[in-house]
Amino acid sequence: MIKTQPTPAFAITHADAVQWLRSVPSGAIDLVVTDPPYESLEKHRATGTTTRLKQSKASSNAWFDIFPNSRFDELFAELFRVLHNDSHLYLFCDHETMRVAVPLAEARGFKFWKPIVWDKIAIGMGYHYRCRYEFILFFEKGKRKLNDLSVPDVLCEKRVHNGYPTEKPAPLIEVLVNNSTEPGEIVCDPFCGSGSAGVAALRHGRQFVGADLSTDAIALATQRLRDNGGQEGVKLVGREMPQLALLV
Ligand SMILES: C[S@@+](CC[C@H](N)C(=O)[O-])C[C@H]1O[C@@H](n2cnc3c(N)ncnc32)[C@H](O)[C@@H]1O
Repeated sequence: MIKTQPTPAFAITHADAVQWLRSVPSGAIDLVVTDPPYESLEKHRATGTTTRLKQSKASSNAWFDIFPNSRFDELFAELFRVLHNDSHLYLFCDHETMRVAVPLAEARGFKFWKPIVWDKIAIGMGYHYRCRYEFILFFEKGKRKLNDLSVPDVLCEKRVHNGYPTEKPAPLIEVLVNNSTEPGEIVCDPFCGSGSAGVAALRHGRQFVGADLSTDAIALATQRLRDNGGQEGVKLVGREMPQLALLV
């Protein structure tokens, strides 16, 4: 009998990341790959080391709001809850945000393995040792083996030019998706922007759920995901009971 592959599905919600995550059942997500607009992005923006919006053709917004460091604790609490036991979290950020994010994530139960370096191959703008890399923090909930133990901790991929502000290259995220999920599993990005994590997921037969505060981002991501063969509608099913207090 010939088995047909199900059409990869997606669902994107217009909402605040943490508020949306609160509506996701516990344990429903197999992998989170996310790229919050962390506070120090504003510094990179001021010195021109990250995408300036005026160069973007993909959005009419002035620039998106930042996600303050003071909200990382509630974000990690929800990410830990929605992730299935034995799963991974990848978080894009810079060295300043890494110092804030790692202890907060660990306090919520994640194991921090290491920063993966995204090498953008060519230098960017700036002054002191011009920027060429960004970190992708690699966390684990429980224990999940990577699918390919030969993948290095430096991933080389060119920046996206003229895309959505701070758009991440889908092929870069494909490496993470392939290493941390199986086909059919659910990948989540609660700050989905132009939907690069979704594109990476759908290209490899995974499902995608995400959220963003910007209606421009939602429209762009929805179109990209449709263009990549995605069909709207993902049913999220809780797979873990919240820990119950022991009855004595
Ligand atoms: C760094 S960008 C993500 C870019 C994305 N990785 C891509 O490849 O296109 C951050 C996104 O978070 C969104 N955002 C900002 N604050 C948010 C919040 N509180 N909840 C959800 N989304 C938010 C912004 O609108 C923006 O699209």
